Amino acid sequence: MTIKAYVYDAYGTLFDVHSVAEKAESLYKGKGKEISEQWRKKQLEYFMLHQLTGNYKPFSEVTKNALLYTLKNLSLSCNEDDLHDLMNAYLELNVYEEVRETLQTLKNKSKKQTIYSNGTYEMLKPLVEKRELDHLLDVLSVDDVKQYKPSPIAYKYALETLGVDRNEVLFMSSNFWDITGAASFGFRTAWINRAGLEVDELGIKPDYIFHDLSEIVTV
Ligand code: LAC
Repeated sequence: MTIKAYVYDAYGTLFDVHSVAEKAESLYKGKGKEISEQWRKKQLEYFMLHQLTGNYKPFSEVTKNALLYTLKNLSLSCNEDDLHDLMNAYLELNVYEEVRETLQTLKNKSKKQTIYSNGTYEMLKPLVEKRELDHLLDVLSVDDVKQYKPSPIAYKYALETLGVDRNEVLFMSSNFWDITGAASFGFRTAWINRAGLEVDELGIKPDYIFHDLSEIVTV
């Protein structure tokens, strides 16, 4: 089957979530990297718990709560301005250097391309516009269905929206939990293993493992 839809996770795959460390470092000298790492870890934990307990909250709220916990856990005070500035950093994340050219190459081949993210539209659309990717791909958020990836319901919604067959989708993520969900649902998967990690012991083998996004044009 040829690939008719290229579907991309956002945070960690197209955009570097840890680019928030720069703003964090400017506010809390010497703590930027630690804040970013704890913030992302807690964000993942929180949305997974919201999903497992059937208590959906929008990713913007989850991300803010994860930040509040992180600063409290590190005994760092924050005022409303600090909070706003750090949350705003999520709207200006760096895009990985090979992304724009890769998306353009596939657009030139008339391939359907969509972000599918746990992020909300209020988080994703400004970011995609800021990084000038909005003419290259569509944006789809789990907030439409109020179910987080890696729930099969979340991927089912994406498939119904795309209007193609399950195995005509190539799903790309740097997050192995996302690859596990997409592969279990029946999508073809490319793990964008930017960090050079080992394959997790989850009984899932991605169809492709690439170091960055540029290699997907070879599929
Ligand atoms: C995303 C992050 C949570 O869905 O991986 O974009």
